[in-house]
Amino acid sequence: MAGPLPARASSSPGAIPFGAAIQSDFFDADPDYRALFTRECDLVLPMNELKFALLRPTRETFAFEAADRMVDFARANGQASRGHTFVWWSTNPDWLEAIEDEGQAERVLVEHIERVADRYRGRLSSWDVVNEVIAHDPDEDGGPLRDTFWLRRLGPRHIPLAFRTAARIDPAARLVLNDYDLEFRGPRFDTRRAIALGIVRQLQDAGIRIDAVGIQGHLYAHQEIDVEALARFGRDLKALGVGLLASELDVIDFQVPGDAEAIDAAAGKVVSDFLDGLIGGQRPEAVVTWGLTDRYSWVGDAMPRADGRPCRPLPFDAELRPKPWYGELRRRLARG
Ligand code: XIL
Repeated sequence: MAGPLPARASSSPGAIPFGAAIQSDFFDADPDYRALFTRECDLVLPMNELKFALLRPTRETFAFEAADRMVDFARANGQASRGHTFVWWSTNPDWLEAIEDEGQAERVLVEHIERVADRYRGRLSSWDVVNEVIAHDPDEDGGPLRDTFWLRRLGPRHIPLAFRTAARIDPAARLVLNDYDLEFRGPRFDTRRAIALGIVRQLQDAGIRIDAVGIQGHLYAHQEIDVEALARFGRDLKALGVGLLASELDVIDFQVPGDAEAIDAAAGKVVSDFLDGLIGGQRPEAVVTWGLTDRYSWVGDAMPRADGRPCRPLPFDAELRPKPWYGELRRRLARG
């Protein structure tokens, strides 16, 4: 089985690795942005560049250049990197979604994973094999899995198929089921955690390798983390021999009233509770934030604040000053 993510040489021994997702869009134009990743991270991964539509503008084309640059940047810095993602409901090219035939859809999926996993073998220490396959609200949505192109064409078997193919092509990469809304208190979140565990067990029962669950960690600062349930989830995974990581950590503050100080205080609380639950269950393989600076984040686009203030989702503000909660986070990770 694949080993855990290596820590960067500069990280204190025994520390939980810290990483962040980088965007090639800002890489050249903003050297300070780039330098922040070099300075702060044990792991740097391409945020969007390995998504299906960006990699495969047409069925015949593989546009690896942007992803390669980000992965090579990390390697040149002695940092690890990870892959995001083979199977997702979003960011699929039109040519893909136009495929109606089951056999063809299967061939495209297998061929995609074969080609991409093979290219990055030895350079990416883990892969989000499937991303967001759990139904958003399983009770409302009428089933445990999200209604996606892949589910409609191949049924639930697309999940084992993707894991089996990834394991065949890159036996050393950690293979991850990645999903969101796995940390809060409430029945919908209990159900989602149970479904994640169910998928893990089904893969294992079929003799298919799954190494870890990625808890995205898009943290709504107005919602309560269920610290005990999150820790239990981590323990349950550990009992199955499966690891976990925080894979896309950021803070969503659109429901938090007040100024920057109030927002950062709420962020500090939700991040701290999240870490209590995460680390309380088992030692995470890494904690990865979805960007590093508020200068660039999806949160303000997807969930803008009604008061017009900028969102403050990430460890560094738009002027690249660290938030207090980032210091706390790094101290927690340093303790291992
Ligand atoms: C987001 C990126 O941050 C944006 O830059 C992009 O425009 C859309 O995707 N869950 C995921 C990520 O798994 O891939 C998403 O990333 C955010 C939510």
